[in-house]
Amino acid sequence: MRFENEVAVITGSGRGIGRAIALKMAQEGASVVINDIDEEVAYSVVREIREAGGKAVASVGSVADSRNASQLIDTAVNEFGTVNILINNAAVTRPAMIDKMTDEQWDLVVDVGLKGVFNCIRAVAPIYKERAKQNPEALTNGKIINVTSVAGLTGTIGQINYSASKAGLLGITMSTGREWGRYRIQSNAVAFGVVETRMTDTIRGDEKFAEKYKSKIVLNRFGTTEDVVPGVLFLSSSDANYITGHVLNISGGYHIGV
Ligand SMILES: NC(=O)c1ccc[n+]([C@@H]2O[C@H](COP(=O)([O-])OP(=O)(O)OC[C@H]3O[C@@H](n4cnc5c(N)ncnc54)[C@H](O)[C@@H]3O)[C@@H](O)[C@H]2O)c1
Repeated sequence: MRFENEVAVITGSGRGIGRAIALKMAQEGASVVINDIDEEVAYSVVREIREAGGKAVASVGSVADSRNASQLIDTAVNEFGTVNILINNAAVTRPAMIDKMTDEQWDLVVDVGLKGVFNCIRAVAPIYKERAKQNPEALTNGKIINVTSVAGLTGTIGQINYSASKAGLLGITMSTGREWGRYRIQSNAVAFGVVETRMTDTIRGDEKFAEKYKSKIVLNRFGTTEDVVPGVLFLSSSDANYITGHVLNISGGYHIGV
């Protein structure tokens, strides 16, 4: 029960990796706020957690809109009293080669994946900073985990928008770490490779494509949500109180594959 008496806000947690993080955190005692743009899946995760005896509420809306980000943090405070952990997980892809990419494709991916993260971090600032004011000697006054991708470290072919937004998260992670270190707020990132979720259905569904990707993953297999969740929980826990500004690759070695 590593997260007993802790409140975690997880964006894009209606399905995929976000959902898996939420279920595990709730199992380990956290009260969780499930955010998604898709109302149906958000409420179904809330039900799943409650049926298992955990604590969860939903806050539906796109993180790209700063009003929804504020509402998300307000929901956590109104329902559970505070926020201790913010996991910025929501993102979308809109692939196209550079010369074929439309303004709409660029804007959507960057608005959700980059600005959405900034919106949530800015919204949680008053809660974290107030806690720090009350507890200047505490070892942690709040945690931020940003979900990035090997695409943000190495670049991609056909996803310049996604790659740019994920690379931008490194800047957000380091800047938040530096600006809020004096408040004992830890800001870290996890970089995934290819994980079996809806987001990678197309890649994994095409045999030739799938083999090409797999050959670049050093451990030679795609990741599952079970593979990637423990690293996120570690960085969210008190075991990581002396870690900030770190990017944890959880990619089966995809970041060193050539
Ligand atoms: N699956 C992978 O291989 C992989 C690899 C590297 C990084 N990632 C990252 O992991 C995170 C989770 O990805 P996933 O594979 O679980 O994807 P997914 O598509 O299965 O789930 C993402 C969830 O985010 C929600 N969402 C989309 N736009 C939103 C918005 N504007 N506001 C709130 N919620 C929104 C979706 O409805 C969906 O439920 C993303 O940041 C993704 O970029 C995934």
